[in-house]
Amino acid sequence: MNESIRKQVRNGLRDLFHLLPCIVAVGTVTIASAVPPAPIVLTGADMRPATSLNGEWASIIDPYFSGLWSFHHEMKANGYFLNRKAQPGDLFPTEYDFSKAPKLHVPGDWNTQRESLLYYEGPMWYERDFTYQAKQHTRVYLRIGAANYRSWFWVNGHEVCEHEGGYTAFNCDVTSALHTGANFIVAAVDNTRHEDDVPALETDWWNYGGLTREVSLIDVPDSFIDQYDLHLSTNGTGVIEGWVHVMDAQPGETVDVTIPELHAKSTATVGEEGRAMIHFAAEGLERWSPETPKLYNVEIVAGQDSIEDLIGFRTIETSGDKILLNGKPIFLRGIDIHAEAPYRTGRAYSNKDADILLGWAKELGCNYVRLAHYPHDETMLRAADRMGLLVWSENPVYWALEFDNPKVYAKAEQQLDEEINTSRNHAAIILWSMANETPNTAVRTKFISALADHARKLDPTRLITAALLVRAEGNTKIVDDSLGHALDVIGVNEYIGWYEQRPETADVTDWRIAFDKPVIASEWGGGAKAGLHGKLDQRWTEEYQANIYRHQLGMLNRIPQLRGTSPWVLMDFRSPNRPLAGIQDEFNRKGLISEQGAKKEAFFILQKAYRDKTVGKPE
Ligand code: GCU
Repeated sequence: MNESIRKQVRNGLRDLFHLLPCIVAVGTVTIASAVPPAPIVLTGADMRPATSLNGEWASIIDPYFSGLWSFHHEMKANGYFLNRKAQPGDLFPTEYDFSKAPKLHVPGDWNTQRESLLYYEGPMWYERDFTYQAKQHTRVYLRIGAANYRSWFWVNGHEVCEHEGGYTAFNCDVTSALHTGANFIVAAVDNTRHEDDVPALETDWWNYGGLTREVSLIDVPDSFIDQYDLHLSTNGTGVIEGWVHVMDAQPGETVDVTIPELHAKSTATVGEEGRAMIHFAAEGLERWSPETPKLYNVEIVAGQDSIEDLIGFRTIETSGDKILLNGKPIFLRGIDIHAEAPYRTGRAYSNKDADILLGWAKELGCNYVRLAHYPHDETMLRAADRMGLLVWSENPVYWALEFDNPKVYAKAEQQLDEEINTSRNHAAIILWSMANETPNTAVRTKFISALADHARKLDPTRLITAALLVRAEGNTKIVDDSLGHALDVIGVNEYIGWYEQRPETADVTDWRIAFDKPVIASEWGGGAKAGLHGKLDQRWTEEYQANIYRHQLGMLNRIPQLRGTSPWVLMDFRSPNRPLAGIQDEFNRKGLISEQGAKKEAFFILQKAYRDKTVGKPE
């Protein structure tokens, strides 16, 4: 079956599955395969009490997605989502059985759990049983921390939601599908790449598929706090402001926000659109900063619902070409980080992964990390809040997308909504990045400028940025990408000494920047295999990489409005684009540390520059 026919069949099936509201009675289970309600976004849901569904799930690999439509000649649907067992007297075979299927650990990508799945791109079925005790006046949400890339979920044979996007959390209302006592959940996750996805076909990281972040059940009252934003006012008065949104609140319902440690409390009334506006003084508040990452326990109560979050309060803004944290100029000494698990490799998902990766960043002398190239999970963001690391968080608008396709824009905006509305109360996050290395075309600039406007509407308290490609005229780097007009902070990626020129060329390179805005050198560096030594001019040796760092650092100090830097990259990470046997072995080797934790010479060069503060204007 050639690609176009396959695509038609697959899309036909997908469309048929969505569009054909068919009532199919199979045994005792009746399913109505209409499109389920869209998932919702919950703020701070990782702080709510939850029933974990992490652990060993049954798995069935299904390259042809036949489990979605397993019609037999009697036209009885036998989709895997029914988790059906063969019955005596069946007139058709049941050709799957989750109870006899191999297991996959959730959370976790499937690629690094089974040798045979390392390169797998396609649909995978998951199933697990669980018990549930019904509660009165309660809604139950199935929370998925992330599922890469498309995913569909059924509880007891009823489809409860579907989602597209591989790096953001979403929550599906499963209340009506649950039974008291024994239940089962089935998921289908398909990591197949498409040119109209976000990101699209080409990335320089491994396409880890699966239920890659935690899965749980969250009980909330019929009327509950779904989203909120609490931050320090930038008008320097030590006032905390923001809002709390209550789903299905009764007009006139009140919301209480309390910070016990400060004996501060605010009561506000929910307005027509379900939002209570918050504004109160918090005497004696200690501002959050990398030096003093002070977090406060904040209690929010609305009717029968309450949530406790750990929130730091700080201000971030620009003034001309400076970045001001709590009103003072700051230089961001950073490093780029992929969500690649140290040692075991695969998609990072645990507190341990986060503590190791951010622990290395702290050891490097960082006050800042660029979490590339997609939203990282709550474990990373909570660790950054705790450890005092400022964060650049990025929506995966990466390289070439179909920028002229409104459906692609809608996908990018949906993922941006999920990223911001899930994680908007992390003091560590100061930058929302709209994109990485996108082509400087009018249609792209329109697409990403619209995203930037949307992000500012969602969250006017943070800075908007993007990592731009930089053009050159001889030994002059020119930053005049039209997208710069839409940004508060300009990220620039360049690879002098690796993809262009010699490392020493950095010494004679100057910069022309067309914007009076802060600039972050958001990517630079080069590759080295840990433990490989040789002459300065021998590629892939630690000495070669270290030489790039020495010359780059000298150049950075000559960029007039440089206010931060984050070389590429903290740790080696898997990428199918890097096959050089014996050196890369399908890992991008630009890490300062190998995936097995071996620090390369360049690590110590950057560490010294950061500790001595010889890079970047002193704050
Ligand atoms: C690009 C890109 C990264 C990539 C890196 C590299 O700048 O942003 O995602 O991994 O270069 O080539 O190693």
